[in-house]
Amino acid sequence: MHHFEPKDGVLHAEGVSLETLADEVGTPVYVYSTATLKRHYGLLRAAADAHRDALGEALIAFAVKANSNLSVLATLARMGSGADTVSEGEIRRALAAGIPAERIIFSGVGKTDVELAFAIAVGVRQINIESGAELDRLIQVAALLDASPAVAVRVNPNIGAGGHAKITTGGKGDKFGVPVDEALELYARASASPHVTPVGLACHIGSQITDLAPLEAAFRVLAEMTLTLRGQGCAVTRLDLGGGLGVPYAGGAAPPSPADYVAMAARVLAGLEVEAAFEPGRLLAANAGVLLSQVIQVTERSDGRRFLVLDAAMNDLMRPALYDAFHDIVPVRPRSGARRPHDVVGPVCETGDTFARDRDLPVLEAEDLVVFTGAGAYGAVMASEYNSRPLVPEVLVDGDRWAVIRPRPTYEEMLDREPFADWL
Ligand code: LLP
Repeated sequence: MHHFEPKDGVLHAEGVSLETLADEVGTPVYVYSTATLKRHYGLLRAAADAHRDALGEALIAFAVKANSNLSVLATLARMGSGADTVSEGEIRRALAAGIPAERIIFSGVGKTDVELAFAIAVGVRQINIESGAELDRLIQVAALLDASPAVAVRVNPNIGAGGHAKITTGGKGDKFGVPVDEALELYARASASPHVTPVGLACHIGSQITDLAPLEAAFRVLAEMTLTLRGQGCAVTRLDLGGGLGVPYAGGAAPPSPADYVAMAARVLAGLEVEAAFEPGRLLAANAGVLLSQVIQVTERSDGRRFLVLDAAMNDLMRPALYDAFHDIVPVRPRSGARRPHDVVGPVCETGDTFARDRDLPVLEAEDLVVFTGAGAYGAVMASEYNSRPLVPEVLVDGDRWAVIRPRPTYEEMLDREPFADWL
């Protein structure tokens, strides 16, 4: 469900015409819908609130990596969202956007000592420990600061799931978390230290998961471990269930609804008296954003291939190149008439810069506008300036108003960032 709909024959983001935005800001540009973000957060919040008996005052901690724009984070912050963060930069963004430290979780396999010290100093809600080596470093850092931060141990339940091998995290060989036995050991070790306070367990098994079964199996592992740890006299008050629920990218499998997902979690956690945390990224942001792009030209080659050459490229939206991801491509002003298979490509000089092959699309012309849907998560955040294409800008729409929430750098700004070595 989203708020990108045609009005008077032109695709709009809520009340704002995408033609207007293309004129005013230029293309390519990411456009986000406030109403969609709020709707998605609201649905998940309502589902969690309906299961307070089993999930406690559940925290919804938006996975900042999915979309870290400050205005997007501030929109969610105002609805009460927390943040799942994986670097000092993300913690700083969450704080700057008004997400209080007590709603910020710090995860990640490779947190540096400096980052751990920063997280302790600002008082994040919890640090998710992913290895014995990290626990040792955290204890040392916390001892120096005379602190005892809340920690959760990230379990690798040996259940991998997700839309692509590169975004599966819970499988045995994946780099994330520790196996069940080791997690129990680490928990006991953490309980024995005055410099960390173990509060719970965490898992995150993958992303773009379209089936509840692997998630349920992982949550059951956490529930059983909770009982085991309590049997050993350890307190377990929080379970961090990670993110990972998929979204309906057009053409792909339809994932379960957020309500069914939360109800499943409530069933598994019932009676444990823990506080749950959810870390959705894609679920909240993907369908709240589109990448708006203009057709540079249509190339009809003598071998019969037809290329739609756009001004957006793999540096602006990496997902197709990196994960063979499918994003629907929709004309802003629909053209009736013939449809043809197109290879949709950008101007970057490698074949990887192909968004789609043989995609059935209406026949378009130079200067037509199109959008890639489902681009609000893992779109702008993964963009780069490869081929010296200035970083793609972002716009936030709210009803009839809109704002540039990250401007496109000018060429001067792009070049000025790089001082010449003083011997040149
Ligand atoms: N929690 C942790 C610890 C994570 O590592 C992630 C995502 C999430 C939560 C949020 O997962 P989500 O709800 O968005 O599935 N760049 C890839 C996705 C990478 C996801 C990495 N971890 C993509 O474009 O598909």
